[in-house]
Amino acid sequence: MHKILTVALSLALLPAFALAAGPRDAPKAAGIESKDYQWAKMEGELKEALDKKGDVKRGKETYEICGACHLPSGAGRPDGTFPQLAGQHTTVLIKQMADIRMGLRDNPTMYPFAKEMTDPQDLADTSAYIQSLCIPVNHGKYEGPDAARQVAAGKELYEKQCVECHKANGEGVKEKFYPVLAGQHYKYLLRQMTDIRDGHRRNANPDMVKVIKPYTNEQLVAISAYQASLSMPGAMCKAGPAAKGGAKKK
Ligand code: HEC
Ligand code: HEC
Repeated sequence: MHKILTVALSLALLPAFALAAGPRDAPKAAGIESKDYQWAKMEGELKEALDKKGDVKRGKETYEICGACHLPSGAGRPDGTFPQLAGQHTTVLIKQMADIRMGLRDNPTMYPFAKEMTDPQDLADTSAYIQSLCIPVNHGKYEGPDAARQVAAGKELYEKQCVECHKANGEGVKEKFYPVLAGQHYKYLLRQMTDIRDGHRRNANPDMVKVIKPYTNEQLVAISAYQASLSMPGAMCKAGPAAKGGAKKK
């Protein structure tokens, strides 16, 4: 009960928080310049959390506060504001949380919450729970009269330059921190790729930045449409975005 109250209170305080300690200030406060950032450097809290064994059951409780934005099912919102988390690799989740806390992604909305969750065991548990959630099908796909053409054009680009890391079904590579892209919302993907290309997401893998630099906006639309259409066998929910958290079968 009091957790829900905490979320409500924190949400009410958000604008003040964001102004007082915006993520743009955070790297400075931590003494980190984005040019000094070494991608996925295995030390400190990142390493500690990755070394812990996550407890899915306990993670269900620690995830409660996150569900206020990412939804209890982990499906997020198809309008591109809150990303799908369901099914994401624990490694990716832990790294992104650490990066958000360090201010390497512009995320004033979530920053206060990422700042709260610093305990390595909490991080490991929450991530284990999220990874166990099934990915909703047909949630946040590209919609438009030219969808078929966009998806086809995106497939061609994806298979040339992205499949090597993100894999054929968008399953990524857990040990290498390559994220799951399958089922992610079109609008979110487009925003992230634009940010990565334009240097606004400062934690991005340098090899990927190189690949994506020459892409035009049009190409990013096509490739986002294709990625949102991907589905990972064995990881998808049976029907639509589950209203409640549903664990995927292992
Ligand atoms: C107040 C709303 C809010 C809350 C609460 C919240 N998040 Fe987020 N989260 C966001 C937003 C907005 C983004 C997308 C940021 C962007 O556009 O870069 C995000 C992004 C993320 C990402 C990156 C996803 C990706 O695909 O790269 C992870 C991981 C994440 N959140 C985990 C969590 C966890 C775990 C919690 C609970 C401790 C949590 N979030 C609580 C709003 C929230
Ligand atoms: C060298 C491996 C590599 C290549 C090649 C690569 N990526 Fe990535 N990609 C990554 C990694 C690693 C991340 C996570 C970066 C981070 O830590 O923030 C990522 C992140 C992303 C994200 C953000 C996901 C999220 O949940 O926020 C998208 C979208 C994406 N890649 C799409 C692509 C596309 C499209 C291509 C081809 C044009 C591509 N990537 C090529 C490794 C790669």
